[in-house]
Amino acid sequence: MLLEVNNVSKHFGGVKAVNNSSFTVGKNEIVGIIGPNGAGKTTLFNLISGNFPVTNGNINFKGENITNQKPYILCKKGIGRTYQVVKPFGNITVLENVIVGAFNKINSKDEAKEYSLEILKKVGLYEQRNQIGKSLTLANKKRLEVAKALATQPELLLLDEVMAGLNPTEIKDVLPMIQSLNDDGITIILIEHIMEVVMTICDRIIVINHGEKIAEGTAEEIANNDKVIEAYLGGEATNA
Ligand SMILES: Nc1ncnc2c1ncn2[C@@H]1O[C@H](COP(=O)(O)OP(=O)(O)OP(=O)(O)O)[C@@H](O)[C@H]1O
Ligand SMILES: [Mg+2]
Repeated sequence: MLLEVNNVSKHFGGVKAVNNSSFTVGKNEIVGIIGPNGAGKTTLFNLISGNFPVTNGNINFKGENITNQKPYILCKKGIGRTYQVVKPFGNITVLENVIVGAFNKINSKDEAKEYSLEILKKVGLYEQRNQIGKSLTLANKKRLEVAKALATQPELLLLDEVMAGLNPTEIKDVLPMIQSLNDDGITIILIEHIMEVVMTICDRIIVINHGEKIAEGTAEEIANNDKVIEAYLGGEATNA
C-alpha cells in the first residue's frame, strides 16, 4: 500500500474532527473522499500532509511511519497537496509561483524554470505564465494550485476541492487533466463535493461523516448505501 491511515483521530478541544478513521490507498489509484460540510475531510488531508499533528493513530507512506512529520519533510518524501482556499503568492508571476514548488526537488534555477514551464503546459496555464498570480480567474487560480503541488514532483497528490466554484465547462476541462496526471503514475486522493466528478473519475470512494468513515466502495456501491443516503439527506431517504 502506498498510504495507510490507521485509527487516526484529530480532536480540537471537544470537536472530534477526525475520529478513529482507517483506510488505505494503493499505488496509482484515484480515491475520492466525500462527506457533508464539516465532516473532517480537509482535516484528514492536514494530518496526512503534516500540517496538523494527530491526536491518535498513525500514518504510513511507502511502508514508513510518517506520523507527525513536518510538511516540508513529507513534501520531499513525495506527498503534495493543494489547499481548499486558494492562496497564490499574490505579487509574483504564475511561473514564479510554480518555480517555488519546483525547488522541492530541483536545485538549479534554470532546471526549475524549465520544469515549471512544462508543468504550466500540462495544466493549461502556459499562456498566463507571466501574469501576476492574484490576477487569475478562479478557475485558473485552481489550476495554479495544482501546478504548484505538481512542481514538487509528488507520488501522492492530495486535491482539496479543486473544482469547487468552477462552471461545468471549466470542470470538463479539468477532469482530463487530473486523469492524465494519474496516467503519468501519480496516485491521487481528491476531496470533492461535485458528485458527478467523483463518480466519473474515482476508482474508489470513501465517505466520511462526523469524522468517521461510514462507507467505502465503488460509485455504485456508495450511491446505494443507506448510511450514505442518510448522511446526505438527514434520514429522509430511509423511507424512500
Ligand atoms: N484548526 C481548527 N481548529 C478548530 N476546529 C477545527 C479546525 N479545523 C477544522 N476544525 C473543525 O473540524 C471539523 C471538520 O472540519 P473540516 O474542515 O475538516 O471539514 P470538511 O469536511 O473539510 O468540510 P468542508 O466540506 O466544509 O470543507 C469542523 O467542525 C471544523 O470546524
Ligand atoms: Mg474542507
